[in-house]
This record gives sequence, structure tokens and C-alpha cells, in this order.
Amino acid sequence: MPDLQGQEKDQKNYHVNTPFANQGTFHVKGADSLDWGMKTRLSNIFDPKTGNTVMFAFDHGYFMGSVTGLERLDIVIPSLLPHIDVLMGTRGALRTCVPPNSGKGVALRTSSGSSMLYDDLSHEVVAVDIEDAIRLNADCMAVQTFIGADGQLSSLDNLSRTVNDGMSYGIPTLGVVAVGKDMERTDRFFKLATRILAELGANLIKTYYCDKFEEIVAACPVPIVVAGGKKLPEAEAMTLAYHSMQGGARGLDMGRNIFQSEHPVQMAAAIRKIVHEGFTDKEAFQFYTDTTR
Ligand code: R5P
Repeated sequence: MPDLQGQEKDQKNYHVNTPFANQGTFHVKGADSLDWGMKTRLSNIFDPKTGNTVMFAFDHGYFMGSVTGLERLDIVIPSLLPHIDVLMGTRGALRTCVPPNSGKGVALRTSSGSSMLYDDLSHEVVAVDIEDAIRLNADCMAVQTFIGADGQLSSLDNLSRTVNDGMSYGIPTLGVVAVGKDMERTDRFFKLATRILAELGANLIKTYYCDKFEEIVAACPVPIVVAGGKKLPEAEAMTLAYHSMQGGARGLDMGRNIFQSEHPVQMAAAIRKIVHEGFTDKEAFQFYTDTTR
């Protein structure tokens, strides 16, 4: 095991202005050597024209129940479909409330096992097996990981077993970086967490935005999508989205900042402008304001 002393010193060079050296001909970072099926599914997530994605996260119910804004999945989700690329949800929500002809990518939440009524959120299991992910035509399987928390080992075991199954059947794995209430939200932590997940085989990673985000992206050999997090005023959420894309994210996986907005449809449309059309945060907010008058 390498000597860990010296790891704290900021003496690293991330070459943030040098493009990924192994891009090859495929538009998704780190995927050039993958098989056709994997690439097809990654193309259902990351638009081949822009390389980016708008994911809509509505998997909150798996541990929070009917969270505000998602009381009626059957009403909310269809209204947002024109503005999103990928649906991130549980198998229960997908089968009951999402039209099977939506034409959208699917990020299937496969890890679960905790509830907000029991303060043990860092322990999960793989709750959906690979056969059901195949039946649902999932474009990736999302596994929550808890680096630096009590459930670290079991969550990385969940991730590794999902990667093993995914590689067998051509389904990418989305590694999700969780942050607990007592966990740091620093570039040091997110560099550690994203790199661990990529080296364990995750094909794409969901994490949070922070300072020096471009270094996190540079050091991570697979694409990063940024989590929305708790509800912010719309203008601030657009700034988060804009800074994330400027920092090298390949998209947003946003939940509450869309479905808890006063105008969820217009909010999703504005985020799409930032992700796929190069709008600044100010331009997107102007668009949002114009369309909600
Ligand atoms: C967290 O990683 C889970 O996937 C969440 O349920 C969800 O993605 C959170 O989305 P948001 O923080 O944007 O509401």
C-alpha cells in the first residue's frame, strides 16, 4: 500500500486545459473501448450531438416517500418529458407512472434499503437484479455510494457487483456520490470519491459541484453529471448548472430544483438551454422569466 503521507499537499497537476487523451471516436469520455451495446445505451444518455444530458431525478421516494412536488408522479413526469433526456427513477415509479413510449433514456435506481425514518442512510443493498434492469431496458443502473461513511465498504461492494453484472450484459453503471450531513463537500473529498468510483468501473458518475470542479473533472476518466441538491431560488440553480457545465460536467441530474420550482416545466426547459444550447445562467433565467410571465 502506498505511503499516504504527503497526499494532503496541493502539489498535483491536473492539466485542466488538456483534453482527455483517450477520447477516440466515441463522444462519451472513457467509453471508446466499450462494446456496441454499452455505447448504444450511453448514447441514449449523452446526446451524440452535444455530448451532454439533462437527467430528471425523481427517485426520492425510495427513501423519502411522497416528497413535496412529487406527490403525483403520473402527472409531473409526462409534463417534463419534452425537456429532459433521461429519467432517473425507481422500477416502481417507472412501471406505474412513466409512459413506456416516452422515448427517453432510463437511469434505473438499483440500490436502496434505507428510509428517512431510521438514521442509517449510509447502508444500502442492491435491490434490483440485472434481469429486471434488462426487462426495463435500463440505459444505466444507479448505485448510491457512501465514501468516508459507515456504509462505505458495503456500498462499494454494491457498486462493484453492479459493474460486474453490467459488463456481462452491456448496461452501464452510474456511481452516485452521496454526501451525509456530517461529510465534507470539498474538492478534496469529491476528487477522492469520483476517482474511486471510476476506478471501480462506474461508466458515469453523479456528484456535487464545488470549487476547483474542473480539477475533479480532469482527474475523473468518465463523464460527471452534477446533482441538483436542495431547492435553490431559480436564478441560483441556473448559476449552479452554468458553472457545472463550464467546469466540464456533461450534464445535470436535477430533481428538487425542477419539481419544486413554481414552474417546473419552464425550469426544465431553461436548464436544457444551458446544457444543450450554451446559454449562460443569465440568458437561461431571462428565458425562464419570459416564459413564466
Ligand atoms: C441522490 O443521489 C438521489 O439520487 C436523490 O434521490 C436525487 O437524485 C436527488 O436529486 P436532487 O438532489 O436534485 O433533488
